[in-house]
Amino acid sequence: MRIINFNAGPAALPLPALERARDELLDYGGSGMSIMEHSHRGKEYEAVQAEAISLLTELLDLPSSHQVLLMQGGASLQFAMVPMNFLPIGASADYIITGTWSEKALAEAKIVGKPRVACTTILPDKRYVRIPKQSELDLDPSASYVHITSNNTIFGTQWMEYPSTGGVPLIADMSSDFLWRKFDAGRFALIYAGAQKNVGPSGLVVVIARKDLMAKGRKDLPKILRYETFAENNSMYNTPPTFGIYLMRNVLAWVKQVGGLGPIESWNREKARLLYGALDAMSGFYRAPVERESRSLMNVVFRLSSEALEEKFVAEAKKQGMVGLKGHRSAGGIRVSTYNAVTVENVKTLVSFLERFAKANG
Ligand SMILES: Cc1ncc(COP(=O)(O)O)c(C=O)c1O
Repeated sequence: MRIINFNAGPAALPLPALERARDELLDYGGSGMSIMEHSHRGKEYEAVQAEAISLLTELLDLPSSHQVLLMQGGASLQFAMVPMNFLPIGASADYIITGTWSEKALAEAKIVGKPRVACTTILPDKRYVRIPKQSELDLDPSASYVHITSNNTIFGTQWMEYPSTGGVPLIADMSSDFLWRKFDAGRFALIYAGAQKNVGPSGLVVVIARKDLMAKGRKDLPKILRYETFAENNSMYNTPPTFGIYLMRNVLAWVKQVGGLGPIESWNREKARLLYGALDAMSGFYRAPVERESRSLMNVVFRLSSEALEEKFVAEAKKQGMVGLKGHRSAGGIRVSTYNAVTVENVKTLVSFLERFAKANG
């Protein structure tokens, strides 16, 4: 029996992608072994990796100026690699701070060089409840790049329109909203996303970067820390995380099979409409702290009147087959992550639980 999984990451994966993995696990394509046991230099695995990259290129309609890299080390390694490669000594980079993950990216950049905070929406109590407006950004036209976190997994805010940076390269941590809809990837110099939310299992990071930018990255770094190394070797410089890439291939094939990112986006919008609609309708009982225009479609956060009631909410939801609802340990409250694999039906089930719970405890 599958449970309804609202985890923030690692998170729910589409059932057809898992079923395909189950069916192919012991004997991949008649080869007599699992894909995990194949050499990464063999034709079976090479075809899987090529298919994953070509599906991503097709689904996002990526321009030829950009290249997909498949890497390891989590999004956290990207926090370090971005400044190591693109923040030269004596230069500056602009960071827009909208949550804990942007703070972490900034902290790594500070170890490498001299980044600047171009804006922060932190509140005196250290929470974040909104994305800044363009007019609030203090951007330096000579910055090496501007870094944003497109979706703030912990505080439940999301950039709906990306900032204009003039000619300055825009870099985004898209870990928790990558592939929720089609977007113009050509606007970004570099995007990175840990796979464990919308695209696959942890242990894999997707990077989409402009080829000319990667070629200009610093050369005085160990090879394994240069984007150029991955670009030149088509992400086969060393042994890639083959099973993670295989599973991502299954997830992307599922996205294509359901009709691509058009239907995925409309399901995501419908899930958010249902959930925020219910929270707004019961605002005397549930309190959604995020400003309306900044509300995330991927991580919906809210509070109840006491921590004891929040605990009861999580425990009763679990009894009814719904898990992963406890907010991040630093933020508290309730968090519902509604990534692509969470269905509209799953959210309807949760909404009717929200209604029952409010009636019984209000
Ligand atoms: C937006 C965002 N960035 C970065 C990370 C860190 O990712 P990892 O644990 O893969 O390093 C997370 C993890 O949840 C995240 O949500």
